[in-house]
Amino acid sequence: MKKLILYKSGYGSTKQYAEDIGKAVGADVMPLKKFKWKALDQYDIIVFGGWVMGGNIQGVNDFLVHWEEMKDRNVIIFAVGMGYPTPEGRNTLINQNVLDLYHIRFYQFQGSFDFKKLNLVHKALMKTSIARIARKPDATEGDKQLLSVLENPFEVYDQAKVDRVIEVIEKIEAEDNKA
Ligand SMILES: Cc1cc2nc3c(=O)[nH]c(=O)nc-3n(C[C@H](O)[C@H](O)[C@H](O)COP(=O)(O)O)c2cc1C
Repeated sequence: MKKLILYKSGYGSTKQYAEDIGKAVGADVMPLKKFKWKALDQYDIIVFGGWVMGGNIQGVNDFLVHWEEMKDRNVIIFAVGMGYPTPEGRNTLINQNVLDLYHIRFYQFQGSFDFKKLNLVHKALMKTSIARIARKPDATEGDKQLLSVLENPFEVYDQAKVDRVIEVIEKIEAEDNKA
């Protein structure tokens, strides 16, 4: 089965995950914006990874606009954010990005964050979010985490999730070979 991994990454974590999964399963890997959609026909397993900004999975709409062309294939989406993956966080991503409209597999990965490395627009957006959260009387755990990351850059590599996605892709292929 031919495999394709498309990604949209701001600062490199999502790209790294896409490349590592791609290498392990022998997929073609490329940034979403470079992909020529007329080539989609040759792929049986299609993966999209996007980084999360303000709860929105970057690039996911541009990817899912092509749903009609891929709905009879195996489609996997993964989102890379700063939040520690939790069932609540996963549900929020599904709801906010309306992923329940599609028949896909969805994974939530944790990535890296360093405020000092952000571009000016992203720094300004982060500061606005922080100011909003700081005014909230009932800050959630996610809010508190967001406040703390400004001073504490972190780098996470979610090996377990990488392994899981690889395992799932291999399982899909094994099932297909049996059929
Ligand atoms: C402006 C901005 C907004 C962000 N919003 C979120 C968010 O809503 N939820 C989240 O989990 N992470 C958020 N992040 C963190 C990024 O998703 C995280 O750093 C991710 O690893 C970036 O992936 P990349 O290295 O592929 O760009 C935000 C980062 C920036 C710069």
